[in-house]
Amino acid sequence: MTRKEFFARVGFGAATVLLPACIAGLATSCSSDDSNTGGSGSSTPTPTASSNFTVDTSTGPLATNGGFIVMKGIIIARTTTGTFLAVSSSCTHEGVTLGYDNSGNVFVCPRHNSQFTSTGTVISGPAPSNLKQYQTTLSGTTLTVIV
Ligand code: FES
Repeated sequence: MTRKEFFARVGFGAATVLLPACIAGLATSCSSDDSNTGGSGSSTPTPTASSNFTVDTSTGPLATNGGFIVMKGIIIARTTTGTFLAVSSSCTHEGVTLGYDNSGNVFVCPRHNSQFTSTGTVISGPAPSNLKQYQTTLSGTTLTVIV
C-alpha cells in the first residue's frame, strides 16, 4: 500500500465515522438542551419561587449598578441608575435562561437573541410572548421580590 492509498483509505474512514456525528450535531443544535448554567444559556428548568423571597444587595452582582443574578426562576437586575428589576428568567421561546444587558437595559436570550424590555415585553423574537414581571421593594440593602 502506498502512502497515498493509506491516507485515501483513512481519510474516507474518518469521514464515514464523523459525518453521521456531525449531522446529528447539526440536527440538535437548536434543541433546548444546553449544559451552560447561570444566565449563560441554560435551559435546565429552574424552580420558580412560590412565595416572596429576599436578596442581600450589599454583596455580589447586585451590589453594583448593572449587575444581575438569577434566583428561583427570576432574573433580578440592577440598572445602571440603581433601580431593581425582576422578571421571569426563562425565555418564552425555548426556556433558556436569560441575561441582562445593562447598556441597553434589556433582557437578552443567549440562544436566539430574543430581547425583552426592562418590564419583560418582547422587543424582538423569536420569543412569542412576554416575561412575567415581579415587583420588588428595597429596605436598606435587603431587596424583597414579591411573587
Ligand atoms: S430560546 Fe430562542 S430566543 Fe430564547
